[in-house]
Amino acid sequence: MNTTDYIVIGSGVAGLRAAVELSRGGRVVILTKDRLDESNTEYAQGGVAVALSDDDEIALHVEDTLNAGAGLCDELAVRVLVEEGPRYITELIEWGAEFDRTDGALAFTREAAHSRRRILHAGGDSTGSEIVRSLLARARQEPNITFLAHAATLGLLVDDGRCIGVEYIDPHESLLCQMGAKAIVLATGGAGQVFAQTTNPDVATGDGIAMAYAAGAMVCDLEFIQFHPTVLSAPGAPRFLLSEALRGEGGRLRNDAGETFMKNYDEREELAPRDIVSRSIVAEMVRTGRQWVYLDMTHLDANFLHTRFPKIHLTCLRYGLDITKDQIPVSPAAHYIMGGVRTDSEGRTSLPGLYAAGEVTCTGVHGANRLASNSLLEGLVFGARAGFAALHDPQPAGLEAFQLRQPADISPSDWVIDPQTRFRVQELMWRKVGLIRKGGELSEALVELTDLAASALNSRTRNFASLARLIAEAALWREESRGGHYRDDFPLRNDSHWRVHSTQQLDQPICAVQSISAFDAQTPRTI
Ligand code: FAD
Ligand code: SIN
Repeated sequence: MNTTDYIVIGSGVAGLRAAVELSRGGRVVILTKDRLDESNTEYAQGGVAVALSDDDEIALHVEDTLNAGAGLCDELAVRVLVEEGPRYITELIEWGAEFDRTDGALAFTREAAHSRRRILHAGGDSTGSEIVRSLLARARQEPNITFLAHAATLGLLVDDGRCIGVEYIDPHESLLCQMGAKAIVLATGGAGQVFAQTTNPDVATGDGIAMAYAAGAMVCDLEFIQFHPTVLSAPGAPRFLLSEALRGEGGRLRNDAGETFMKNYDEREELAPRDIVSRSIVAEMVRTGRQWVYLDMTHLDANFLHTRFPKIHLTCLRYGLDITKDQIPVSPAAHYIMGGVRTDSEGRTSLPGLYAAGEVTCTGVHGANRLASNSLLEGLVFGARAGFAALHDPQPAGLEAFQLRQPADISPSDWVIDPQTRFRVQELMWRKVGLIRKGGELSEALVELTDLAASALNSRTRNFASLARLIAEAALWREESRGGHYRDDFPLRNDSHWRVHSTQQLDQPICAVQSISAFDAQTPRTI
């Protein structure tokens, strides 16, 4: 019988932190789709926000997070994040994470919508990679943790209303297998890949949200997608992120005529919230008839740029652009999903036995728009909390009763998302469910995505198309503009009607709830 005590799906910041917590009480298997260090976390650049500097306060970080969230943050979840953040970052430093320092003291940078310099960074612009390195090293010290790389989970097993395990591809045997556990922690990260233009790596296909939904768990706020304003847009180059920290350190946006333009759109200029900067860039691209605008750092000290942003500097050089001398062509791309599997503040989903942490979740921390650099912190804090709850909640007596299927052969198509469907979904989502949305286009996208999900050839393709369908459905449902959701046909925020969260659950109509973390206090209602 293929069983363990706890399964963690995903090896980004949330999964690794949850696994370390769980290893204190039992055997843990980490299943991850690609290499252990392939994840959104690995590519995080700007840093991790934490109220640790001398001139910062917990209350200010809470306030900035609530302001960014555009009226939809869950205040309890935000307080947990910000109040517990310093403890988990300090712990990570004790575990070996090396954040950049000036004269021995931690160095903090600034990003949009933060009222203080509160972003810790590592290797200049390689923060995520340092977090993965230190967490992997810590997890490898635990004999209770087993790593299974290149093992894609295809679905969750549910028995008598409880999540009891997973179905996954065993890469060594090339078999479709099942594994049972007392509790499962979902930490599969984001879904940027459902859009044609994204900063996210290939693994970020939103599988966890789709699998949880298919298993009966509630998902929330999927309409809220954050588009990052400054993503490399040079012909032939990948959509490589140009960190917000570049603007935090003084980088300016210019149009084709060389004019700075952000002042025409928002008094906070380059440091306005991401949704505003992204839409301003698109407006400027439309106005000037160009495919991009420029990010200009040429007025900053060249030595400073080399040392503060070494990865960005080297990557741009590879495509013939020198950030110290050239203005860099940029345009927005899908970056982060604020919605996800609904959890309480301890990572419990609405499906007993299933816990979740990190970008796959909707904890209510981000509301309608995430404050820059809050998600690495979220992964750490809520990864630990989800692990703790999974360990300490009452569990079923034995795993023997679980009826797991014997391993079976995999058909070749099960290994990948059907490439044609992948391409079609990405194009549809970018054109009709992207940065600027319209009711008519959303309806058209929804019809086609429903067909694509229904005719999917295998479970990976079905998960991918289903998630896209859920995002389109939620975007069509919300007839207002707020945070990461902009409707051209409903351009204003409407608090009297829409200060609610969307919830979607299998075989039920899309509904509204008032609060994310208070599961029992409310029944979903239709709008
Ligand atoms: P991830 O780190 O994405 O990990 C998900 C894991 O799940 C991966 O290991 C993946 O392979 C695995 N997985 C997925 N599907 C399956 C499956 N079906 N079966 C098995 N395994 C699966 N945030 C910040 O706070 N600061 C930043 O500076 C920052 N910069 C960013 C830069 C870039 C380019 C990107 C893309 C994101 C950035 N973010 C940043 C966002 C942040 O990196 C992510 O939100 C965060 O790292 C998510 O962590 P996670 O553990 O939830 O998911
Ligand atoms: C960035 O470095 O601009 C990304 C930060 C984030 O997404 O939080």
